[in-house]
Amino acid sequence: MKSDLKPSGTISLTHEGGTVEFPVYKPTHGPDVFDIRSLYKDTGAFTFDPGFTSTASCESKITFIDGDEGILLYRGYPIDQLAENSDFLETAYVLLNGELPDPEKRKWFENSITMHTMVHEQLKHFYNGFRRDAHPMAIMVGVVGALSAFYHDSTDITDPKQRLIASHRMIAKMPTIAAMAYKYSIGQSFVFPRNDLDYTSNFMRMCFAVSSEDYECNPVLCDALDKIFILHMDHEQNASTSTVRLAGSSGANPFACIAAGIASLWGPAHGGANEAALNMLEEIGTVDRIPEFIARAKDKDDPFRLMGFGHRVYKNYDPRAKVMRDACHEVLDALGIRDEPLLQVAMELERIALEDEYFVSKKLYPNIDFYSGITLRALGFPTDMFTVLFALARTVGWIAQWSEMIVDPNQKIGRPRQIYTGAPQRDYVSMEKRPA
Ligand code: SDX
Repeated sequence: MKSDLKPSGTISLTHEGGTVEFPVYKPTHGPDVFDIRSLYKDTGAFTFDPGFTSTASCESKITFIDGDEGILLYRGYPIDQLAENSDFLETAYVLLNGELPDPEKRKWFENSITMHTMVHEQLKHFYNGFRRDAHPMAIMVGVVGALSAFYHDSTDITDPKQRLIASHRMIAKMPTIAAMAYKYSIGQSFVFPRNDLDYTSNFMRMCFAVSSEDYECNPVLCDALDKIFILHMDHEQNASTSTVRLAGSSGANPFACIAAGIASLWGPAHGGANEAALNMLEEIGTVDRIPEFIARAKDKDDPFRLMGFGHRVYKNYDPRAKVMRDACHEVLDALGIRDEPLLQVAMELERIALEDEYFVSKKLYPNIDFYSGITLRALGFPTDMFTVLFALARTVGWIAQWSEMIVDPNQKIGRPRQIYTGAPQRDYVSMEKRPA
């Protein structure tokens, strides 16, 4: 990766030791950044930024988000245009390679992914170690981490060829591993991938075909899921992507890094929110109970939050949520369940929240997770599979960001510091001398 940090001036910082200057870089889009890499050396002080709300951890050319304007670009292409005109594999190619593929490159990429969808027969034995009621995300963390033990020929991260094979293997095998986690949880036999199906149809068939009856995906449903995968593919330096980058910065192999990303995504404040949002809608149950939950979400003493609402970056409507809402309506219409009660509750909840001063003043809008749960349940997935589907799609972004980090000339092992406010230095006290 060629660094394109464009110095546009400097800022000065005056502290007890004097005044120091730091370069300012201008981005293609978004805020300027102050390069404070020499701050500790020049001033002996650290910055303090818990949650990294004001910290750019890296230079990246992959995804841009404007939270105030509700803009999301993958390699400069607006998310709604990709969702409308592209498909999963083409968008994956764009994220990984930076440009739209020509027909020849598209064919090469599609063939490479298709040829890596199967998993080693030994990998199946990992599933038997889990209880049938294990959360599928627990299975995903375990099985994806175990891939490190199977592909020694593609874990040398200094070899571009091995990085490419590992990347394609990861993207290709996630649907197979995810479908196996689902089948295991419902006590059905695993279904092998087929090379004559596209990425998303293959995944749906591996989930819903049974040995006694094949499954052919309704094109409307498969198109909706393909669109959902595109929406979830990448999102700048979110918690799970930052986890993958930090794990990768130590030189860990890509399979282990993706397993770390899956673990981070599982949290209800992050990728687990789609499961939590649907559970919340089911708990609300009917439109007349919405005010009770709105009041709880506003109550500082109540830990309850409106799941699927709010975002660290978006202080406007999440552009993905708009596409997600349309996909939700398409799926429910195709299934003839537009009067799905949970959709009525979700739409009324959204209407009320968007008019409520608390949510307006805090700029809390629906995020991608608000409508995804209703859609995924209508597609036939149980709630505990929602975050697995998020991880399946986000694997492309994790791999793209991990690959970019490996070749970033400014990259070094991630090692934040802290402000220590614990006990002052003191001597050990033997037991007999300790106060009773
Ligand atoms: C994803 O980072 C990404 O890009 C993530 C993601 C991706 O694609 O990778 O977009 C995917 O994770 C989407 C977010 C899914 N999470 C949820 O829907 C869970 C519910 N949302 C909240 O937990 C919260 O909004 C976060 C975690 C998403 C964002 O939290 P922040 O940025 O740390 O904001 P905050 O917690 O400081 O909240 C600011 C204020 C607080 O009130 P005050 O202390 O200022 O009085 O808003 C309130 C919060 O209490 N608030 C909410 C709320 N979200 C924030 N109040 C009620 N309901 C909510 N959902």
